[in-house]
Amino acid sequence: MPTRTRTDIPVYRPDLYSAAAIRDTYPHYARLRELGPVVWLTKHKVHALPRYAECKAVLLDDETFISGDGVALNPLANRMGQGTTLYSDGADHDRRRSQVAHRLTPRALRPMTTAVDEQAAQVVEAALARRAVDGVEMAMALPLSVVPDLVGWPEEGREHLLRWAGAAFNGQGPINRQAVRTLPSALGMMRYARRVVRERSVLEGSMGHDLLCAADEGKIPPAECATMMMDYLSPSLDTTISAIASALHLFATHPEQWRLLKEDPGRIPNAVNEVVRYDSPVRAFTRVAARDTTIAGTPIPKGSRLLVLYGSANRDALEWEDPDTFDIRRDAARQLGFGQGTHGCAGQGLARLETSAMLRALVTRVDRIELTGTPEWALNNIIHRYERLPLKLIPA
Ligand code: HEM
Repeated sequence: MPTRTRTDIPVYRPDLYSAAAIRDTYPHYARLRELGPVVWLTKHKVHALPRYAECKAVLLDDETFISGDGVALNPLANRMGQGTTLYSDGADHDRRRSQVAHRLTPRALRPMTTAVDEQAAQVVEAALARRAVDGVEMAMALPLSVVPDLVGWPEEGREHLLRWAGAAFNGQGPINRQAVRTLPSALGMMRYARRVVRERSVLEGSMGHDLLCAADEGKIPPAECATMMMDYLSPSLDTTISAIASALHLFATHPEQWRLLKEDPGRIPNAVNEVVRYDSPVRAFTRVAARDTTIAGTPIPKGSRLLVLYGSANRDALEWEDPDTFDIRRDAARQLGFGQGTHGCAGQGLARLETSAMLRALVTRVDRIELTGTPEWALNNIIHRYERLPLKLIPA
């Protein structure tokens, strides 16, 4: 492969994080993919990776492309996130991840399946009784009931969790209007987490409780308890809400796919992959090159920041046939929406459990899902999710 010189790298001037680009993101990704495997974003001063192969290769090579300098696009968030699993490398990362990730494996989650299925059934039955519903509200129900209990947040303060978690994501893009507007909320979550740890008010037997015990036993520094609790809260709400709401939207707008799912609910696990491929909940995170290297023939000097565009990789025609077609029959298991490699999503078992439970509850009770108005996208730098999704559910 010929090596490019630094001046050969294609550049892209539009702002990927403007309100317009957040609301209509795919045309930007398509132009970036056409430009090449590595594209310099003049506005954000990073190398963007819009194609599947390079995104995957970078995620898998965590010795060269590190997370310890932060995975956000701005220095403030990259400093504030220190001490989290997401923002750490090597043995430090493994130590943090091993404290609680075992609670989120499919086997550890299995005892929750019946309770989550029952909750999903209640959500769908309540929606059927109302007929006209906001799909985003439906999508919030499971994450907001399951995750706070698992992490162990006390009842008091839970009403703020979704706002705080959304703000934590917003703050990891560039410092633009969205990020500044939500900064006070992001700081609110940090203050709350520190207070919960100080007062030891986490629920007995929860993940948060495990962390307090690990600190008591000297396995982790006490100061890390609060950051690690946020580690498992901030990425766990909007992401799953995005996947469930996008599933509702996609099955409303692709009735033939809905028929296929109803005919064979065995397709649900792959349908979850296809939803996460087609409308990836996380737009992008970054990495830093720990040494001079090359990506697809492009020289990447040590210290360069790279933008891994999961949402674009999952629509790359070099990897996927008809990438802009939503089809639950394709093999979507290799989608990158949950990341890949050592930082691959620690909570994907839970996200899959919640999204599948909603789809199981819907296929047996609902004949058709109809869109009754124009959906609106939420304005968030990192999370690609609906803010409003007017729907009607027609009973089976
Ligand atoms: C559909 C839902 C979800 C999506 C699409 C998603 C996506 C992602 C992605 C792309 C990463 C990789 C970040 C990177 O490469 O730097 C990640 C990491 C992570 N996710 Fe998720 N996530 C979801 C749900 C959840 C849930 C429910 C939890 C917790 C209960 C969670 C906890 C985490 C944690 C702790 C990490 C950091 C792992 C590490 O650095 O080792 N996620 N997620």
